Amino acid sequence: MKQIVLSKAELSDLELLAIGGYAPLTGFLGEDDYHSVVETMRLTNGAVWSIPITLAVTEQQAKQLSLGDEVELVYEQTVYGTMEVQHIYRPDKRKEALLVYQTEDLAHPGVKKLFEKPDVYIGGPVQLVRQTDKGIFTPFFFTPKETKQRFAELGWKTVVGFQTRNPVHRAHEYIQKCALEIVDGLYLNPLVGETKEDDIPADIRLKSYQVLLEHYYPKDRVFLGVFTAAMRYAGPREAIFHALVRKNFGCTHFIVGRDHAGVGNYYGTYDAQKIFLQFTNEELGITPLFFEHSFYCTKCEAMASTKTCPHDATAHVVLSGTKVREMLRAGEMPPSTFSRPEVVRVLMDGLQTVGGGRS
Ligand code: ADX
Repeated sequence: MKQIVLSKAELSDLELLAIGGYAPLTGFLGEDDYHSVVETMRLTNGAVWSIPITLAVTEQQAKQLSLGDEVELVYEQTVYGTMEVQHIYRPDKRKEALLVYQTEDLAHPGVKKLFEKPDVYIGGPVQLVRQTDKGIFTPFFFTPKETKQRFAELGWKTVVGFQTRNPVHRAHEYIQKCALEIVDGLYLNPLVGETKEDDIPADIRLKSYQVLLEHYYPKDRVFLGVFTAAMRYAGPREAIFHALVRKNFGCTHFIVGRDHAGVGNYYGTYDAQKIFLQFTNEELGITPLFFEHSFYCTKCEAMASTKTCPHDATAHVVLSGTKVREMLRAGEMPPSTFSRPEVVRVLMDGLQTVGGGRS
């Protein structure tokens, strides 16, 4: 059988496609669905889908392929899956960049990856022949079937999904717990797939989630599982994608806060919430829960948001991700009103030892 070498992100997509994480998709997108998703955020059958899930090959590889070929999907010399090649086509990367990421700027990490990919896409249904190695994340990896079963065992009828690529700081905790006041359970679902260089490495984050859950969350109300996809940093489009995927894992609700899946200044603070207005909750199959920018207010002496706090910015404890990472690397504690001390200690240890050399 001919072999196609996958990138790390494509490998995680293969597995998520095969286990039903990307339902109704069963394979990498064909040409018509690709254009439809890019242009209309829907598959050709009308189902909502906002991020093109594609498999790229070089011109040279494409020349050796014929429609109907069964190919092996390989990563680091290991075969993880097979695909029936039903489509071979040239994407319009410029259009993809402008419509999916709203920019062609190569400084955008998602756009950069898009333009670095080879220039031909192939599509077709996939089969997984071997699970990917999750390393330290193995105990936290669940298929949609497994998470749905766990939620049922826990007696949860309503479950809110929380996507994150960051440590859970007080603002994250606040919006999760606000959501938890109205639903039965929280699926804390940190993304551990590929992220950009300067995001905090997932292994360090995992420890920080564990310590936070141990001290500050009721055990029967939270379930921690990892999301193995790569980050796209596509802001609004990715918020829709993140919600659809969490629906597949059994969530009934999904949290969208400020600048969800954003990077730099490419998206407006609430664009990732506004995009949901284009769809009904029925067609999405999941209810988004929107939260305004949250922070600790020294005058309210509580966590609050612009919706609940009357005081001006001087009373609000707000730190940028970059600033926090700088502080952690320098061994400087961010205030406990920003992040729990237990979490800070884990992050500091991690970043100063293992993670320190990585970014
Ligand atoms: S993301 O790229 O995975 O979205 P992050 O981990 O920072 O980044 O955010 C996780 C979720 O929390 C997103 O829904 C985001 O909008 C929300 N969020 C992060 N910080 C805040 C904040 N200070 N106030 C309100 N929502 C927030």
